[in-house]
Parts: sequence; structure tokens; C-alpha cells
Amino acid sequence: MPGGRSRGPAAGDGRLRLARLALVLLGWVSVSSPASPATSSSASAAFLASAASAQPPPSSPCPAPCECSEAARTVKCVNRNLSAVPADLPPYARTLFLTGNQLAVLPAGAFARRPPLAELAALNLSGSRLREVHAGAFEDLPGLRQLDLSHNPLVHLSPFAFSAINASASAPSALSELILNHIIEPPPPGQDQHQDQKQKQNQSVESMVGAALRAGHALHGLWRLELASNHFLYLPRDALSQLPALRHLDLRNNSLVSLTYLSFRNLTHLERLHLEDNALKVLHNGTLAELQGLAHVKVFLDNNPWVCDCHMVDMVTWLRETQIVEGKARLTCAFPEKMRNQMLVELNVADLDCDPILPPSLQTSYVFLGIVLALIGAIFLLVLYLNRKGIKKWMHNIRDACRDHMEGYHYRYEINADPRLTNLSSNSDV
Ligand SMILES: *[C@@H]1O[C@H](CO)[C@@H](O)[C@H](O)[C@H]1NC(C)=O
Ligand SMILES: *[C@@H]1O[C@H](CO)[C@@H](O)[C@H](O)[C@H]1NC(C)=O
Ligand SMILES: *[C@@H]1O[C@H](CO)[C@@H](O)[C@H](O)[C@H]1NC(C)=O
Ligand SMILES: *[C@@H]1O[C@H](CO)[C@@H](O)[C@H](O)[C@H]1NC(C)=O
Ligand SMILES: *[C@@H]1O[C@H](CO)[C@@H](O)[C@H](O)[C@H]1NC(C)=O
Ligand SMILES: *[C@@H]1O[C@H](CO)[C@@H](O)[C@H](O)[C@H]1NC(C)=O
Ligand SMILES: *[C@@H]1O[C@H](CO)[C@@H](O)[C@H](O)[C@H]1NC(C)=O
Repeated sequence: MPGGRSRGPAAGDGRLRLARLALVLLGWVSVSSPASPATSSSASAAFLASAASAQPPPSSPCPAPCECSEAARTVKCVNRNLSAVPADLPPYARTLFLTGNQLAVLPAGAFARRPPLAELAALNLSGSRLREVHAGAFEDLPGLRQLDLSHNPLVHLSPFAFSAINASASAPSALSELILNHIIEPPPPGQDQHQDQKQKQNQSVESMVGAALRAGHALHGLWRLELASNHFLYLPRDALSQLPALRHLDLRNNSLVSLTYLSFRNLTHLERLHLEDNALKVLHNGTLAELQGLAHVKVFLDNNPWVCDCHMVDMVTWLRETQIVEGKARLTCAFPEKMRNQMLVELNVADLDCDPILPPSLQTSYVFLGIVLALIGAIFLLVLYLNRKGIKKWMHNIRDACRDHMEGYHYRYEINADPRLTNLSSNSDV
């Protein structure tokens, strides 16, 4: 602002200043205007400068570490090491990025403001070192539709994180997209992380997330759920039971071994089911029937270690017929060794048997051991046969020797048993 150092105050200047001040307070000062002829008071000049250079009007401030754009309705507080959600978030914010911070804990009402952040629809808390999300953390965000909590090492996710503290009294949340990829702390090297977490909170991470997905019927409108890269070994039986609107379920890159206990029956709107990069061995009849019963679904099953034994028969039969598996020709056996890399859809059902599956190295070593034992046995019998006369003589000798020996024992036994002779025998030590 050039006017700050101007010299002589002109007549009538005070009135002009007053008028300007009023304009500023009303937020009508534009950046381009100030060809201010003369303002002697440095205080008022500073006020003018700040008012003119701040883009959003003073009624909706932007928190210091953030960038705000009222036109785009977006607030970005990115990579700022913030340890709490800024208090003075502008109420026009529709999209809020709080990524790359150090929030650690998200308490109840972390976004409750006066006036409320009624416009906020998308909230991204990715990579902000969150360890705890408390009940009602997203309360007072009535318009929240998309929530991204990915890449946070969550140790405690309250069952009521996505509903109100007062779950019974809460209205269903408007949330339609919930992104929870990579929300489990990476295991410390050389330590079983699942065991570790169980000990810490007496609950598996799977059931912790499952409980939050069920609680309070809050997620009845959810249509997108991403749970990729979470080391999940299983999904709790009723984890999906309160998500009737689900269209897109991403379970990629977990460690799911089986889907037997999971029901997809009620997910009638499901369109995409991502199960790539898990540890699935086979899908059983019940699961196959449920998936086939969904009208619009596409299922993605790549990169699972399918086991091509007798349990695979139903799945292979189903795969040949079904249209719902995306890229079914890419699915190959991982075990047993003799079937490795064979396409599931091209398997001959007659080849699918349940011989005890031993690693091939072990199989050959067992065969070898058997042959060696048989050879030794045969040689032994042959030797016996060739020496049958000698053996007979040898047997007689042994029998005689034994008889002599036994008689000796018998004699000693009688001596020991005879109380009159006991002292004698023990003294002489036979
Ligand atoms: C955040 O913290 C890291 C390490 O503590 C530091 O290197 C980085 O400069 C900090 N960033 C800001 C914006 O303060
Ligand atoms: C949230 O922010 C992260 C980091 O910038 C980004 O990778 C991710 O795509 C964002 N999530 C959404 C839903 O846009
Ligand atoms: C929770 O709801 C009950 C009744 O539904 C009410 O009595 C109670 O005050 C509520 N508690 C809070 C913290 O809002
Ligand atoms: C942990 O779980 C076991 C069995 O479910 C229960 O008996 C025990 O009380 C729990 N401990 C804590 C601290 O919650
Ligand atoms: C799969 O998950 C692991 C563990 O969460 C992660 O380190 C890895 O980057 C993920 N891979 C992909 C392709 O996302
Ligand atoms: C499916 O929905 C019905 C009716 O809405 C309900 O009774 C049943 O428990 C649900 N089943 C599962 C597995 O969620
Ligand atoms: C699976 O279903 C098919 C066809 O519905 C049936 O022929 C087969 O016997 C079933 N398999 C098992 C193990 O129940």
C-alpha cells in the first residue's frame, strides 16, 4: 500500500477515511481500487492493507496453515504437521483436505463449529497419523458424503465413529463413500502385528472395523466402501449386513483366505466386488450361488493362490458358465505343483483329486526311501535263505546257550527265594 507514508494530510481527509473504513467493514473493498490519495494514520493504513490483500472477506477467515478458495469451496491444510483440526474453518468449505498431518486423535465433535460446516461434503484425512477415531468424531457434519481415512495407523476405531455418540437417537448419516484403505499399522519387522494389536485392544482389527460398519444403521446410504491393503484375514460375518445400498466393495490386497462365512445375499445393488491379491484357495457352492444371484455384479478374483484339488470342482464348473467374473481366463492354479499356472477354466474336472498333497520334493524322497527299504528287505531275506543251514545250526546253538543261561537264572532265583540262603548269596555276591 503506497499511501502509508504520504506527508501532509489534506483537508476533509478524516471524513474520507471514515467512509473508507465503513466500506472495508462491509467487505466492499476490492484489491484494485486503492489509489488512496493520502492516509496519514499508519494504523488505519495497516487495516486497509490487510483488508485489501486478504482474498476472502473477513466474515470467513482462512486458518493460517491452510489455503482456502471460496470460489472452489475448497480448504487445503496439507502436509502441515497439524496436531488438531483447525478451529476457524470457513463455513463455505465443501471439500476439506487435512492430509499429511499429525492429528493422532480425532475426538467427538472434532468438526462441530458455530456456524456448522453445513456444506462440507468431502473430507480427506489421509496420511494424518490418526491412531484413534472416537465416537461421534464426524458429528455435526450433516452433509458429509465422502470420507477418506486411508493411510492412518488406526488402533482404535470406535464402533460409533460414523454415527453419533447417541447412536440410538442419531439420524442415518449421509455418508455415501467411505475409503478405509491401508488403515492398519504396518507390522513392526519380525513381529506378528495381528497378535500385537489383539493384545493391545483385545479385539481383532477385522472385528473393530466390522463393528464400525454395522453400528447404528448409520451407513444405510453407503454405496462405495474401500478396505484395500489392510492385512484382513477374514471379514466378520455380518460386517456387510447393514450396508444395503453398497455398489462398490473393494477388498483388494488383503489376506482373505475364505469367503465361506460371509454373506453377499443382501447386497442386491452390488456392481463391483474387488477381491484381487488375497489368499483365497477356492470359492464354495454357497458363495458361488450368492454371487450368481446378484443382478449387476462384476467380480475380480485375480492373483489368488487357487488350490486345484477336489474342492475346486464346483468352482471350475461355475466359472465355465458364469459371466460375472472379470477376466476369468486369467485365473490359474497355484497348487498343487503339477497343476501350477494351469487356467482354472480349462481344467479337466477328472484331474481334480484330493491325493494327499505333498510338496514334490517330499514326494520323490518318500518314493526313494520306499525303494531303499524294499531293497534292504530283499537282501536280508536272500542272505537268510542262502545261510539257512548255518542259521539253523546257529539257532540251535543259541537255543542251547539260552537254556543254559535260563537254568542259571532259575538256579539263582531259587537261591534268592530261599530265605535261608539269601544272606549267603548276597554276601558271596554270586
Ligand atoms: C513436519 O515435520 C517434519 C518432521 O518432523 C519436518 O521435516 C517438516 O518440515 C514439518 N513440516 C512442516 C510444514 O512443518
Ligand atoms: C485424499 O488425499 C490423498 C492424498 O492427497 C489422495 O491420494 C486421495 O486420492 C484423496 N482421496 C480422495 C477420495 O480424493
Ligand atoms: C442421548 O439420547 C437420549 C434419549 O434418546 C437422551 O436422553 C440423552 O440426553 C442423549 N445424550 C446425549 C449426550 O445427547
Ligand atoms: C478380553 O477378552 C476376553 C475374552 O473375550 C475377556 O474375558 C476379557 O475380559 C477381555 N479383557 C479386556 C481387558 O477387555
Ligand atoms: C498391499 O498391502 C501392503 C500392506 O498393507 C502394502 O504395503 C502394499 O503397498 C500394498 N500393495 C499395493 C499394490 O497396494
Ligand atoms: C438380509 O436382509 C433380511 C431382510 O432385510 C434380514 O432379515 C437378514 O438378516 C439379512 N441377512 C444378512 C445376512 O444380512
Ligand atoms: C454344488 O452345486 C452344484 C450345482 O448346484 C451341485 O451339483 C454340487 O453337488 C454342489 N456341491 C456341493 C459340494 O454341495
